[in-house]
Amino acid sequence: MATKILLVCMGNICRSPMAEGLVRHRAGELALNIGTDSAGTIDHHAGEAPDPRAQRCMAAHGMDISDLRARRIVPGDFHAHDLLLAMDRDNLEGLLRIAPDRNLTHKAKLMMSYAPDLPDEVPDPWYGGPADFERVFQMLDLATTNLLNALRHGR
Ligand code: 4NP
Repeated sequence: MATKILLVCMGNICRSPMAEGLVRHRAGELALNIGTDSAGTIDHHAGEAPDPRAQRCMAAHGMDISDLRARRIVPGDFHAHDLLLAMDRDNLEGLLRIAPDRNLTHKAKLMMSYAPDLPDEVPDPWYGGPADFERVFQMLDLATTNLLNALRHGR
């Protein structure tokens, strides 16, 4: 099983790098062959490392995301990845707007569709504090576990 997953939020410095770090870490624990990348719908933070608050939250859970760098989504992402997982509905709309081919739009969905018992959007923690980043982590951790289980079972 080789799957390439793109995690998408707005700035690509808070939620989607956290999601990328989680998928990368959990896939590694399970020895799954999964490629990960992340991107944002805006290019305002392009080239930047994840927000220090996101890095601190991830580090508290033993995950180093200091190597990640922000970039903007591009139409080619629909060819380069098997799954494009958006953190909220705005991000999903942004993705669908640049899809190069209608036949590829099925690849894009909400990350939280993998955790149907939780809210379907990951709240933007940009104006929040450590507890908001921790809430994002916990939501993403459950969605990641369910996502990897689904991939392992060919769903
Ligand atoms: P993210 O958070 O989309 O989770 O990376 C944000 C990052 C930057 C901004 C907003 C949200 N911003 O307005 O610059």
